[in-house]
Amino acid sequence: MAHQSALIAEDIEGYLRAHEVKSLLRFLTCGSVDDGKSTLIGRLLYDSKMIFEDQLAALEADSKRLGTQGGEIDFALLVDGLAAEREQGITIDVAYRFFSTDKRKFIVADTPGHEQYTRNMVTGASTADAAVILIDARKGVLTQTKRHSYLVSLLGIRHVALAINKMDLVGWSQEVFDQIVADYHDFAARIGIKVFTPIPMSALKGDNITELSANLGWYAGQPLMRWLEDLPVEDELQARPFRMPVQWVNRPNLDFRGFSGLVSSGVIRPGDRVKALPSGRETVVERIVTLAGDLPQAVAGQAVTLTLTDEIDVSRGDVLAETKSPAAVADQFEATLVWFDDEHMLPGRPYLMKLGTRTVAAQVTEPKYKVNVNTLEHLAAKRLELNEIGVVNLSTDAPVAFDPYEENKDLGGFILIDRISNRTVGAGLLHFALRRSQNIHWQALDVDKQARALAKGQAGRVVWFTGLSGAGKSTIANLVEKKLHADGRHTYLLDGDNVRHGLNKDLGFTEEDRVENIRRVAEVARLMVDAGLIVLVSFISPFRAERRMARELLAPGEFVEVFVDTPLAEAERRDVKGLYAKARAGELKNFTGVDSPYEPPEHAELRIDTTRLAPEAAAEAIVHWLDGAEPSGI
Ligand code: ADX
Repeated sequence: MAHQSALIAEDIEGYLRAHEVKSLLRFLTCGSVDDGKSTLIGRLLYDSKMIFEDQLAALEADSKRLGTQGGEIDFALLVDGLAAEREQGITIDVAYRFFSTDKRKFIVADTPGHEQYTRNMVTGASTADAAVILIDARKGVLTQTKRHSYLVSLLGIRHVALAINKMDLVGWSQEVFDQIVADYHDFAARIGIKVFTPIPMSALKGDNITELSANLGWYAGQPLMRWLEDLPVEDELQARPFRMPVQWVNRPNLDFRGFSGLVSSGVIRPGDRVKALPSGRETVVERIVTLAGDLPQAVAGQAVTLTLTDEIDVSRGDVLAETKSPAAVADQFEATLVWFDDEHMLPGRPYLMKLGTRTVAAQVTEPKYKVNVNTLEHLAAKRLELNEIGVVNLSTDAPVAFDPYEENKDLGGFILIDRISNRTVGAGLLHFALRRSQNIHWQALDVDKQARALAKGQAGRVVWFTGLSGAGKSTIANLVEKKLHADGRHTYLLDGDNVRHGLNKDLGFTEEDRVENIRRVAEVARLMVDAGLIVLVSFISPFRAERRMARELLAPGEFVEVFVDTPLAEAERRDVKGLYAKARAGELKNFTGVDSPYEPPEHAELRIDTTRLAPEAAAEAIVHWLDGAEPSGI
């Protein structure tokens, strides 16, 4: 790099050492290309001399050739290559750029500003310590300024600079500046931005970027680069209680057992008491081990391996926390959720939640409202679509250690992953644990599943029939039940049509309702298995995710999936209930196979092809299969 070349050439070791000890600040720029965002980033890279000599030569040549700045250097050209790619739809990701000064290293997340890129901005902002919100001095505070500020506040970025740019185009006017600051002030307070630093500048001309500008003599603060260099972010993290999510249990031999991870906040020393969460077991840190030898202490941001004085059970995903103020443990939360996926969020669907180093299954139990990101209005919502932000209740399948996001981003920020496609479908921030979860305990009962099964002389299990409406599920399930019953088995048949007359009377056929329909029936089936029954479930159950959830509620071998495979054309030809005709006539909406999807099983234990096998023969085959694969419950 231009100005660093000499040092690199003369003393590469010295250069690398100096670089290593410098602190790192991650920040985000918000605004659109029109506000001068690319120019600002280009200017920061240029002024910190972090561009290669050949890049610099190319930049000068391009600026002359294109003449966008009257022959002067157009800094936006440094970063706009990427913007062009974006327009062509090649990438809509976040661009991270690196630069450094004598004091600090920086990673700037350059995210697109439009509303349809909300998820990108959230991604960029989730790791940022500071935000630079750009305003065009000629335009003042715009709707998009408010949207960006709301996201910045939501993501807990406490250091905000309001970069009032293009001051050269308003005659360097202090009045214009003061008016914008006053406008912004009222709004910022409403969304929880208590302090912000307004800086008048011209990114294009270089005023108030690295040096204070004579053109803006009335401004008493720092130029932007100084502000970025001086932010006290490390100290803040170190002052917080100690937390380390365990990334890996390091056990090379029987004599050594260490817990590796990144210290997310606080300071830790050998001899400190720590609590392992969620178990709650306490112990003392023995050593802090690194490749470079043992350390007397470790602070936020350091990757270390801790050994403990007691042999307590700690696994990957657990959290080591200080005992004085440990993280909380819960399995139900209120959270803000930002939806990232083209497919909308479905309450009740089990997603995977990654929180710190922990991964658990989690469901949105209750969407509360969504937020209009432009007006900040709260709107009633049952689901969230791509880029929408809402407040929801969430539950996890197991208790997890957490902090409110406000207090610790690592232990309060999470992502949701779709279990079938593996896509990251959302990101969220935990607010607090729901009190109801704290007050409900699992009651231990003396008569258990095994005892009940023994009394019935059978092991409980679920035979789950899935397939299109009219596929023949209920007919076959009915015959199977008759056979089992005749054989002296204790059975129960849960049929979609019947359950929808009672327990699920309140549900219709939207995706949300079908998810809830299956969730409830799966829970009922589980209770019945617990009671020792052989449960036959006959529901369309069109989605893989919910069938998988039903399977996972039970022990291995207890769930038998039977795919009643009747092609759509054949089910429609039979049309026993006349519903296909109605659906085709447009009298019935969301009909499976017509205008609502059916996802066939990929790993069903049994597949019944009803075009080749009559119901009686199918039932016979199923009973035969069940006899040969009794679960080992008794
Ligand atoms: S599921 O999709 O939520 O699993 P479920 O098995 O409970 O459906 O109910 C399906 C039954 O409801 C069908 O067999 C049919 O008789 C009736 N039904 C009424 N409307 C619809 C619809 N839109 N889609 C599918 N089935 C419907």
